[in-house]
Parts: sequence; C-alpha cells; structure tokens
Amino acid sequence: MNTHATAVVGLQWGDEGKGKIVDLLTSRHDVIVRYNGGANAGHSVQVGSERYALHLVPSGILHPDKICVIGNGVVVDPEKLLQEIDGLRQRGIEVGSNLLISDRAHVVMPYHKEQDAALEDFMAGITRDDAGSLAIGTTRRGIGPAYGDKVDRSTAIRMGDLLDAAYLRERLHVICGLRTRELKALGVQAPPLDPEALAKRFGEAGERLRPHITDTVYGLHDAVKAGKRMLFEGANASLLDIDHGTYPYVTSSNCSTLGIPAGTGLPMRNIGRVLGIMKAYSTRVGGGPFPTELLDAIGDGIRTRGREFGTTTGRPRRVGWLDLVAVRYACMICGTTGIACTLLDVLSGVDELKICTGYRLPDGRVSDRFIPDAHRLTDATAVYETLPGWSEPIRDASDRKALPENARRYLDRIEALLQLPIEMVGVGPDRRQTLEAASMASHA
Ligand code: GDP
Ligand code: IMO
Ligand code: MG
Repeated sequence: MNTHATAVVGLQWGDEGKGKIVDLLTSRHDVIVRYNGGANAGHSVQVGSERYALHLVPSGILHPDKICVIGNGVVVDPEKLLQEIDGLRQRGIEVGSNLLISDRAHVVMPYHKEQDAALEDFMAGITRDDAGSLAIGTTRRGIGPAYGDKVDRSTAIRMGDLLDAAYLRERLHVICGLRTRELKALGVQAPPLDPEALAKRFGEAGERLRPHITDTVYGLHDAVKAGKRMLFEGANASLLDIDHGTYPYVTSSNCSTLGIPAGTGLPMRNIGRVLGIMKAYSTRVGGGPFPTELLDAIGDGIRTRGREFGTTTGRPRRVGWLDLVAVRYACMICGTTGIACTLLDVLSGVDELKICTGYRLPDGRVSDRFIPDAHRLTDATAVYETLPGWSEPIRDASDRKALPENARRYLDRIEALLQLPIEMVGVGPDRRQTLEAASMASHA
C-alpha cells in the first residue's frame, strides 16, 4: 500500500468542501489528480480575500510547484477548460507544464449539452406522485451524454482525437448526422449540426491544449516509481456515484474512491489514506430523495449562513440534518480511513441538532442500512438522535479543544457512530480555518 497517497472524497451529495481540503493538503503532496466527473464539479478555494472556483482544473493548481493531472476518467469540455485556464492566468496563477491532461479523457461537445438540456426538459414534464418530476436536475454540462458516448464507443471523441484534424473531421461527419436526428426527436428546434464548423472549433481548442495532452497513465506510474506523493481529488460525491448512489438521481461517473483506479490507470494499492469529506449537516442540489431534508426556517438559516448556493449553477442547495446512515455507507464503499468534518461553524446558533442514525421502513422496522435506490429510499423516514447545540461563533477557534463543549460532543458522537476519527474540522471557508489533529498535520 502506498502510504504517501491520499484520496479526498465527498461522503454526501457533493459540495462538502473538497476543494478547500485538497488545497490544504497539496503542500504535502507532489501530484494532484482528478479522476472523475467534469465541469459539473465546482470546487471553491478561499485564500484570504481571493476566492477561486475550480471546475476541471485540480484544486492543487494554486501551488505553482505541484503537478496537476486531469485523468482519463474525467470528461473534458475543452472550451470551458480553456476559459478556466485563462481566468487563472489572469489572476497570476501559473498554468503551464504543471497541468497534464489525459489523451484518453473524453470530450464534452456542444451537442452533449444540448442533449442533456433536451432530456431534462422532456423529463421535467413527466411527474410521479412519490418522486416529483423525472428530471434529474443535472448541471446541464453535458456530463451524462458524454459518458454515454464513452460507453457507446462509436460516437465518442477523446482529447487525443482533437490533435488529429483528419480523424476528428471524419468522426464528426458521422456523429453530427446521427445527433441532429436525435435532437430533433427530442423536440430541439435548431439548425442541423455543422461537422466542419465543429471540427475547426474543436481542432483549434485541441491545438491550444496540445502542450498539456499526454499519456498520463505512464506519467502517473513514473511519478509513483519516483516516490512522488499522490493526492486524488474526487469530484461530485459518493452518494452521486453511478453504481452506488441514489440511482437514477446520480451523476454518470464513479465518484467514490472506486473510480480512482479506472479513472487514472493506477492500481488500487496506490491509495493509502482515504480522507472522507463530510459537511456537519447535509446538502443536495438537483432532484432525488433526501430523507433528512429541512423545509423550514432552520434549513433556511443554514442555507444562508453556509452560503449554500451552487458553485457551478448558482442553484440554492437543499439543506438537511446530518444523515449518518448515508455517510456510514459512503465510508464503507470508499474505504475511508478518516473524516474531515467541514462547515461546523454554520451550525452555531441552532438550538438542537439532529443526527439521523436509522431509517424507518414502510413495514415499521428501523434499519441502519442505506438504500442506494431512489425509488425505495423515498419510502424511508429518518430516525434521529437529538443533541444540544451551541450559540457561540467558532470561526476563530484554533484547535478542537477550544470549541464549545456541545460542539465537541457533536463531533465525539459522530466519531462514535462512524467508528472513524475526525482528523480535520472546518470552521470557516479560508484555508487557515481548519482545525487539524497534530498527528495529521505531520502526516505526509
Ligand atoms: P466542493 O465541491 O466539495 O469543493 O465544495 P464547494 O466549494 O462547492 O462548496 C463548499 C462551500 O463551503 C464553499 O463555498 C467553501 O468556500 C465553503 N467552505 C468549505 N469549508 C468550509 C467551512 O469549514 N466553513 C464554512 N463556513 N465554509 C466552508
Ligand atoms: P462537486 O464536485 C453537487 C448533481 C447535480 C444533479 C446530479 C447529476 O462540486 O461536489 P450531472 O450534471 O452530473 O449529470 O448532474 O448530480 N451534481 C452535483 N451536486 N456537487 C457536485 O459536484 C455535483 N456534480 C453533480 O446537481 O443532481
Ligand atoms: Mg461543489
């Protein structure tokens, strides 16, 4: 096992603060690798008064001496990536030979975004009594259709293909004919897709990205052999995992740590420490069941204090109590070795805090097992433990011992229920507002 490799993974439905923790851990690693997802991810990093929103570029990019890798498991929207790179450079962040992109990463094309939106609009018109609309509430970034093409094979384009003009043109002629017909069938009123225009546009984007596009699998293996310390940055989160999340209200990749080997080409033994990132409460963006959802003033207060509005789409996030049935399950599938509990400061001022420890099923039984199936999870009701809250602000706390007694009790109870140590506690958005166990700060 490579004890110098750390995976940072979301244990809920996303936006747990992975970007902040990756940024914090970057100084102790050499290579930061994204293995899944695409521009659906929005990872915020706050450094003093500067706030960065990263979508495709790994959150390690703010540290100039580190290598950032977009692995083969990511779906890349080349134009969005170029915008992101330009935006970073304008703010004085170096993006050059420190950014590598897998030639095998799949490309998100404009028609993927049109397909995504058209399917969502179509499904939004179909409602079911127990589940609301059948729309997933995607980010409309073309993620599902791009992964769909990857699996379909004959209609896919990979980053390496952008560098071969003749091959790209040939493929686009076939794909555009097919896609134009499919979009029409979904009711999209738009002119037919123009393969020549797309080949030119994306050939140019490919040329700009050429210096970064490479065989990252050999690159990553060479880095491991050279003793480099790897940091894997999960995008999206475990309960949105295509195989293990609340299907079908999930994203289209393996966002749990199970996606790391396939999405990087590095075998499993390369993951040593798995740091699961968990908000002190729950949030979810988009559709799907949410057993601990708060639709009252407590939820509104948490949303406001936690600035719970999407980094990618700006949508208000749904808010709920901490669901430890769900988190325990995510820890299990991810092989989590420790927890970072983020946004604890947001709970200051809530009189009583609830933790979901079980689900009551329609037959009256209480189960401690998560239900990774949206249709069946809708029928489960959360069973809670109630703990006293604390009123003091905690953003200036310098270590865990300095937290109010009830905040410490909340963390202790979570550790007991998960049977895992909380290695970091987030008390504010800034890099420095993170309390770390002394033993962890020295962890390489
Ligand atoms: P990610 O997608 O997991 O990287 O998370 P996002 O960046 O989408 O959302 C997390 C939000 O919480 C961002 O606005 C962060 O700046 C912010 N944040 C992260 N950790 C903390 C924390 O401990 N306290 C507070 N108040 N905000 C935090
Ligand atoms: P980060 O990395 C929160 C959700 C979408 C939608 C579902 C499918 O910032 O934690 P998609 O566009 O992927 O097809 O949408 O997944 N979703 C996220 N929610 N944070 C994310 O990423 C998300 N990535 C996808 O809201 O419900
Ligand atoms: Mg996010």
